[in-house]
Amino acid sequence: MRKYDFDSVIDRHGSGAVKYDDLQQTFGSEDLIPLWIADMDFAVCPDITEALRERMSHPIFGYASPSPGYWDSIIAWLDRRHGFKVGRQDITYIPGVVKGIGFAINFFTRPGDKVVIQPPVYHPFKRVVEGNDRIVVNNPLIKTADSYRMDTEGLEELVRREHPRMMILCNPHNPIGLQWSEETLREVARIARENDMIVVSDEIHGDLMLDCRRHIPFLAVGEDARAVGVMLGAPSKTFNIPGMVSSWCIIKNPELRLPFYNWLETNEFDAPTFTATIATEAAYEHGEPWLEEALTYISENIDFTERYVAERLPKLAIVRPEASFLVWLDCRGLGLSQEQLVRMFVNRAHLALNDGAMFGDEGVGYMRLNVACPREVLKTALDHLADALS
Ligand SMILES: Cc1ncc(COP(=O)(O)O)c(C=O)c1O
Repeated sequence: MRKYDFDSVIDRHGSGAVKYDDLQQTFGSEDLIPLWIADMDFAVCPDITEALRERMSHPIFGYASPSPGYWDSIIAWLDRRHGFKVGRQDITYIPGVVKGIGFAINFFTRPGDKVVIQPPVYHPFKRVVEGNDRIVVNNPLIKTADSYRMDTEGLEELVRREHPRMMILCNPHNPIGLQWSEETLREVARIARENDMIVVSDEIHGDLMLDCRRHIPFLAVGEDARAVGVMLGAPSKTFNIPGMVSSWCIIKNPELRLPFYNWLETNEFDAPTFTATIATEAAYEHGEPWLEEALTYISENIDFTERYVAERLPKLAIVRPEASFLVWLDCRGLGLSQEQLVRMFVNRAHLALNDGAMFGDEGVGYMRLNVACPREVLKTALDHLADALS
């Protein structure tokens, strides 16, 4: 018996949700089932809502210090869930993972410096590098028969040739949902340390490991990683609270950490809102049973999608994610141009998915499907797609 309800369809229209209220602006139509931006259509763990409600009942919202158990809740969570030990001095608050990447780029690199990314990858990586007048150097993932792998040989060659100052690692990797192996992470760390390159490891999907898999934090793979690593994470994806704007940064190497944290503090980029710390503490302290059930539900939604695609959408294929609720849908078998593919999804299937091409040229022929929704919604969406393609 489940304790939490993931089946109820909750109307989010008019709640200021990007996923719903920006449909017209983004897709040119409102009449779409939204399966795009990466948040979940599930009610959050009630302990989080309760903790926030209690604070909101106080009539004064003055300057706030972090809730009393905030830091310890992060430290205990990382130890309990990932066996990863962190000291209080290693952590700071940041107001979002993408903002954290932006801070790291601005602090550790200069205009004109090169930054490695590995497409197809979460699209703001490219934007935040180029928007800050740095130069993207691509080390594309290598497609295998049914998944992808990291091109570590290509990375070493690229790094020796181009001398990038930084690499943005996505661990687990969005949009594929791949958790990098310890061996691969060690190789990245070795290449980085030998070539004086900082690795910013975005681990926002790290708590969402599926089917009992283990997340391997970059900083946990050895001395090289600790020397070069800036690890970013959050309870936001894990507990469906990105609107609370609560993320954290962990750096083990004091030569990187002290000046960077000092800069964040000077500019007050590390000052959390009270909603951030209260929601984070409640989530990490009380949200584990909710998360376990959510992960089971998501995994079953992926099974459902896999079966549906095999039976009714034979020209499509899915790359089964190891982590998170995003499914990389291989639509190349349809033989459509990317423009035709996107138009088919919006105009004929009435579905809002992320266009694979936004993750890089390597994403042409693909769409990204968010399955963190009630199964009934997922089934309706897949029926729409089957009808559109028949
Ligand atoms: C890999 C990755 N990093 C960062 C983010 C966004 O994080 P934030 O909202 O904390 O900037 C997302 C959201 O989808 C993501 O997939």
